[in-house]
Amino acid sequence: MGAIEREVFSDPWSANDFTECVSTGVPFLVAERRGVVAGYVVAHSAADEGEILNLGVAAAHRRHGIGRELVERALAELTARGVRTVYLEVRASNAAARRLYEALGFAEVGRRSRYYRRPVEDAVVLSAKL
Ligand SMILES: CC(C)(COP(=O)(O)OP(=O)(O)OC[C@H]1O[C@@H](n2cnc3c(N)ncnc32)[C@H](O)[C@@H]1OP(=O)(O)O)[C@@H](O)C(=O)NCCC(=O)NCCS
Repeated sequence: MGAIEREVFSDPWSANDFTECVSTGVPFLVAERRGVVAGYVVAHSAADEGEILNLGVAAAHRRHGIGRELVERALAELTARGVRTVYLEVRASNAAARRLYEALGFAEVGRRSRYYRRPVEDAVVLSAKL
């Protein structure tokens, strides 16, 4: 996970961030290809609201449907936990992720100015009804 995280994000999660997620029992799905971690998604739910917290696919495994399948399965898990509305934040310039989420029914509901660091950039807030 750490290797993908550092490859994919300029401001990566630490090993401790992942450990905390596992220990709190949030939906955390890992895609494996030939014994290697190819991608992961981390979500979170509180009552009928959910959030996609993190999604990453290793560069060598992209455009094979792994990202879409991870998000679909995370949404199914959130639905099973009673979630009706899901939110997430994405860098405004992240066309690949925005296309993926829009294909899964997410739409823009807001912006958070200068939300990200390294480099500073706005977040687009996307939401979908389950
Ligand atoms: C975004 C990301 C998770 C997509 O993973 P992936 O496994 O390549 O995605 P998929 O193969 O399931 O693609 C699903 C759809 O997303 C869109 N998409 C994915 N990558 C794209 C790209 N580079 N350019 C344009 N659209 C893209 C397409 O609509 C694609 O459907 P298609 O292949 O039928 O055209 C991956 O590029 C990644 O890890 N990026 C860096 C981390 C990141 O941005 N995470 C999200 C932060 S919120």
